[in-house]
Amino acid sequence: MTLRKIIPAERTNKVTYAIRDIVVKAKKLEAEGKKILYLNIGDPPVYDFETPLHLRQSVAQKIIDSTAGSKKNVATYCDSMGIEVAREAIAWDARTNKKIKNITKDNVIISSGASEAITISIAALVNPGDNIMTPSPGYPLYNGQIPVYHGELNPYFLNEEKGWQIDFDELEKSVNERTKAIVVINPNNPTGANYTKESLQNIIKFARKHNLVILADEIYDKLLYDNQKHISIASLSDDVPVITFGGLSKNYIMPGWRVGWGIFHDPLSVMEDYREAINKLLRARLCSPHPQQHMIADALKGPQDHLEMISPKLHKRRDMTYTMLNDIPGISCVKPEGAFYAFPKIQLPEGVDDEEYVLNLLEETGVLVVFGKGFGEKPGTGHFRIVFLPDEETLEKSYNLIAEFTKQFYKKYNFTPK
Ligand SMILES: Cc1ncc(COP(=O)(O)O)c(C=O)c1O
Repeated sequence: MTLRKIIPAERTNKVTYAIRDIVVKAKKLEAEGKKILYLNIGDPPVYDFETPLHLRQSVAQKIIDSTAGSKKNVATYCDSMGIEVAREAIAWDARTNKKIKNITKDNVIISSGASEAITISIAALVNPGDNIMTPSPGYPLYNGQIPVYHGELNPYFLNEEKGWQIDFDELEKSVNERTKAIVVINPNNPTGANYTKESLQNIIKFARKHNLVILADEIYDKLLYDNQKHISIASLSDDVPVITFGGLSKNYIMPGWRVGWGIFHDPLSVMEDYREAINKLLRARLCSPHPQQHMIADALKGPQDHLEMISPKLHKRRDMTYTMLNDIPGISCVKPEGAFYAFPKIQLPEGVDDEEYVLNLLEETGVLVVFGKGFGEKPGTGHFRIVFLPDEETLEKSYNLIAEFTKQFYKKYNFTPK
């Protein structure tokens, strides 16, 4: 008897994640003996960035001390919202550093990476046909998850000419009566833009006018360049509800530990039902892993020396990325202000898109970057995302290879960039 194929749900058809999807191709080339230069994934400990030692030690000790039946047992399930001491530390950080008013541990949930808090927040909000406005370009998790819950995508385009800041005419063009939320990624992945206070105030005004929840992804809030300051959008709102997502992955160099959170700022208590829906989903999945939640207080309240140590390295790599890419004819790049990504624009011959350019680049040179289409860029434009975490030697080699490849690519198409 032959068995019929198991058919997956159609709702998964639109789930893509270019950052990892493209690695499949790179691994294949690597297996064939090609040397790959990985400039594709924002995973700092893959490169020469280390999780602070005191955090590794703190969790190691917690695990060693964990004994059955004791209060120190980290092998139990924990509260669905996360352990109290960690939620208190996140609330403290929100009030003290992020300047978000009146946050207590009860306004905080801990999740398996910020990704889980984001996914649950989307799941608890959209009915079929509702939409959430997402930045374009932006982090692909949002546009991947919204359709899973039968929500519609509603991108708003960021303005490259204005340093990738938000274009408010675009927002008004896109919003409609089924819009329930707006996502703001600040600092932005993939553009590296850090939003001005005026931009953030305008988003609040816009959200107020259209009765939207602001989903504020601030996972890179401690990684900024040129002495820029990060402003948390929730700190500017006295009425509009905001959920702020954060975590240890990037700021504390430990993405694999999967420690993230959501902070609910709701001055007029309009999110109570929504919060209960989120809590139900949190309870249904029991809890997120908690031995590592014990690191949160040590991370947020302990020494921050690692940030000072990594800052000169990141500055140097950001600067050489910006200079070397802008030196390549046909490529132009806005200077990143935060995070560790650059999103250069590439002029392309008619009929060629950035995916083709990036796949050709990978095959010819082994340099792995991610095509702009994977971040939902404005249709008809060409970009790619670079992660500038690798050491200077790797970056220099990669940018020289990109320069030579691009020259030959244009020659093949008989194309002259403007
Ligand atoms: C903007 C943004 N949000 C969220 C995440 C996911 O964070 P986490 O590792 O906490 O799930 C990433 C990871 O790259 C990101 O770039």
